[in-house]
Amino acid sequence: MPLCNDSSRNHAVAVALLFTGALYIFFSTRSNSDTISTHLQNINIPQPVFPQEELGAVLESAAAGNNNTVIIALVNRAYVEEVGEGRTMLDLFLGSFWEGEGTIPLLDHLLLVATDQTAYDRCRFRKLHCYKMDTKGVDLAGEKVFMSAGFIEMMWRRTHFLLDVLRRGYHILFTDTDVLWLRNPFSRLSNNGSLDMQISVDSNNVEAGHLINTGFFHVRSNNKTISLFHKWYDMRLNSPGVKEQDVLQKLLATGFFDQLGLNVAFLNTTQFSGFCEDSPDMGAVTTVHANCCRHIPAKVFDLTLVLSDWKSYKASHVNDKWSPHHKCGSSWKDNHYVPKT
Ligand SMILES: *[C@@H]1O[C@H](CO)[C@@H](O)[C@H](O)[C@H]1NC(C)=O
Ligand SMILES: *[C@@H]1O[C@H](CO)[C@@H](O)[C@H](O)[C@H]1NC(C)=O
Ligand SMILES: *[C@@H]1O[C@H](CO)[C@@H](O)[C@H](O)[C@H]1NC(C)=O
Ligand SMILES: *[C@@H]1O[C@H](CO)[C@@H](O)[C@H](O)[C@H]1NC(C)=O
Repeated sequence: MPLCNDSSRNHAVAVALLFTGALYIFFSTRSNSDTISTHLQNINIPQPVFPQEELGAVLESAAAGNNNTVIIALVNRAYVEEVGEGRTMLDLFLGSFWEGEGTIPLLDHLLLVATDQTAYDRCRFRKLHCYKMDTKGVDLAGEKVFMSAGFIEMMWRRTHFLLDVLRRGYHILFTDTDVLWLRNPFSRLSNNGSLDMQISVDSNNVEAGHLINTGFFHVRSNNKTISLFHKWYDMRLNSPGVKEQDVLQKLLATGFFDQLGLNVAFLNTTQFSGFCEDSPDMGAVTTVHANCCRHIPAKVFDLTLVLSDWKSYKASHVNDKWSPHHKCGSSWKDNHYVPKT
């Protein structure tokens, strides 16, 4: 009865296979030192496919087609809540990409790093690249007024995050969300590959050294910059109550950059402008940072004026003066200002 024999053999093989499968499932949950399980794992069974790690995936898609460079901005709830005339800082920031020259395609390379759920949800709603930073129980949602303890903590978290990104091999163009993008900065930054860092300054005046501003900078991923960010982040332990920018300034002033052999360029305020020192040339201006300003409502008000100055310039090509930044100027005397928490 060959047929019957074959069929029962097939049956036996099927049962054996099923049993092996069951054994595999059973043993594969045991430790690798278990000899049977080790043996069974040598059988050619496809490895389980784990979902790609989230930050890795989002960096990869944001950097695609942009020379391995990702544009990073940090957002918290205070940046996505309405201030004044129904505007949010994030709206204004994104609006500048719409009004800017050659800036719309750059949104494909922008990664918004949210420090809380509200900011993350708003980012998702905008259909941008979004990542929710692990903030380990620290509340980073409310407005962090310049130099408050929360502000300092948030800035250190940011440094740590950027170090992580550099370690993963991505170059970074970091921008604060109170920076308007009026032209494509990549065409104004040097693409000299041996420049490790290009950083904005509050003023072109270098009499007292470069007044670096960590609200806008480009950094290439290499061993020197990874060492710099590592050192920078470690220094927070010796620098209570000092903001990260001052610590970096100190590393620069004490020759740590030279020690690492870092090549640094300082961006010119004619192109990379700010409220501390306005660009004299609307024909060259690339970004405008609401630096020298204490709080969000003042920044939103004065940056809205910048955007309307820019629109007039685009329409007329008359190189006019910027509107004054009165709200930011007086924000320092705003002793009654209570940030939203
Ligand atoms: C990438 O870098 C090269 C060389 O620096 C440059 O010519 C090119 O325009 C860059 N591409 C993008 C998309 O930035
Ligand atoms: C690139 O930058 C390095 C370091 O600043 C400099 O020595 C070199 O001359 C630059 N190369 C070009 C082509 O500008
Ligand atoms: C900034 O750029 C302007 C215009 O190109 C130039 O005249 C000025 O010397 C530059 N300043 C510095 C500090 O490089
Ligand atoms: C750092 O240096 C090591 C060894 O010299 C090299 O293999 C590695 O690719 C470098 N990493 C980066 C990010 O440049």
